[in-house]
Amino acid sequence: MKKTLIFNGSPRLRGDTMTLINALIPKIEGECRVVNTCNRKIAPCIDCRYCWEHAGCAFVDDMQNVYNYIEECDNIIIASPIYFGELTGQLLSVGSRLQTYFCARYFRNEIPIEKPKKGGVILVAGGDANDNDKPYSTACSLLSAMNCNEVFPLIEFHNTNTIRATERDFADAQLNKLAEYLNADWD
Ligand SMILES: Cc1cc2nc3c(=O)[nH]c(=O)nc-3n(C[C@H](O)[C@H](O)[C@H](O)COP(=O)(O)O)c2cc1C
Repeated sequence: MKKTLIFNGSPRLRGDTMTLINALIPKIEGECRVVNTCNRKIAPCIDCRYCWEHAGCAFVDDMQNVYNYIEECDNIIIASPIYFGELTGQLLSVGSRLQTYFCARYFRNEIPIEKPKKGGVILVAGGDANDNDKPYSTACSLLSAMNCNEVFPLIEFHNTNTIRATERDFADAQLNKLAEYLNADWD
């Protein structure tokens, strides 16, 4: 059975990001787990450098379960509102705990995650500025740390201040394409 992990960067559980996630989940085959980065007890990385020499993380908190799921899942999605032109601070805070995988690869010369994964990124923005290169690049960097070696093209919604993302006529088609990509076996 396929497993998909979804990082939600929004604190609004009925907001645009979460509504899109809820619309996407039934389209994805297998099991989906959502990490609500705003209400999980996951401390930000403090660069203690434990992981320069040891596997895992010195902090023992909800991230331990997330690490397990990252390692065993097939797909990972990062879904976030844009805050000041970036992924939300809460998502970046949880993302900072992926430093253990970076250190495994570059400092400990270990393969941190064996299983390759497919990735996807969904971004929502209140305004109409069309420049999401920076947050998309940040999301891709987090996905790369989790061994996503293929990422579906960015799915983005703008002007959520005036129209909800799920009310866009193209929303369902975009989510269908992402789900189709995630459901397919590797080429
Ligand atoms: C702190 C903060 C910063 C924001 N910065 C931006 C921004 O830089 N550009 C933008 O278009 N919208 C910005 N917004 C608007 C959000 O991206 C928008 O409301 C989004 O739809 C919220 O998603 P959600 O409903 O999933 O939480 C910001 C909102 C907040 C609260």
